[in-house]
Amino acid sequence: MQVSRKSYRFTHAITRKPGHSVVGGLRAVDTGAPDLQLFLQHHADYVAALESTGATVQTLEALEDYPDAVFVEDSALCFQEGAVIMRPGAPTRLGEAGIMGETLVELYEEVLRIEGPGHIEGGDVLVTEKEVLVGLSARTDVAGVEELQQLVARWGYRVRELKTPEGVLHFKTDCSLLDEETILSTRRLDASGCFEGYRVIHTAEGEEACANAIRFNDLVIMPDGFPRTADKLHDAGYNVRLVGNSEAAKLDGGMSCLSLRFTPPAR
Ligand code: GLY
Repeated sequence: MQVSRKSYRFTHAITRKPGHSVVGGLRAVDTGAPDLQLFLQHHADYVAALESTGATVQTLEALEDYPDAVFVEDSALCFQEGAVIMRPGAPTRLGEAGIMGETLVELYEEVLRIEGPGHIEGGDVLVTEKEVLVGLSARTDVAGVEELQQLVARWGYRVRELKTPEGVLHFKTDCSLLDEETILSTRRLDASGCFEGYRVIHTAEGEEACANAIRFNDLVIMPDGFPRTADKLHDAGYNVRLVGNSEAAKLDGGMSCLSLRFTPPAR
């Protein structure tokens, strides 16, 4: 069964403030610790952008025991029918998922869980109008993808397993959904052929780090500092909102990582 849904229209989002411990967050390359005050300012700007579309945004308190907990997207996957608690592949992040579950059971009647032994993080999952794309990565393995497939089949979703480019943290580090048929992607990811059947807009050369944007209702929210890609999206007719991301970027985080975006069922 294939179900038609609007994959970028949402009534709700959940975010979590960065805490003092964010300075110890995971990173592939150490370019210095994030500045907490600047991170908080960027976070507030991000929440304001989400709210400006009319959505309800729930901002959770920082979790000091989990330095990367600001990147809530990795902890769960939210559909209209229910939510799935992920099983992060980073050992220091495993506990974040169960904690997010406590919030999601307030919003959803059906909250499913990836029990393992596999691992999967939300940053490796791109939900489009017609399928759920999941990139294998250092954080997401075949067993995790298979368990997700089994869980969401009951809601009519089809999962397609793909590969995240070598050395790239998450699948969505390199791509974003822009609308029903359009993906923003780096050339290196698109070259794998994974977006056949979609219209693809490439990030400008040298601006690959802005591939992680989000379409949230009428806005495309993207990190500040990538003017040629922003111009491309503007020229293609998108309503682009820029948000500072320098501090999250030090921890390999981007626009999608900072929120769970969803429309819960009426209860
Ligand atoms: N720093 C984000 C992550 O590695 O999960």
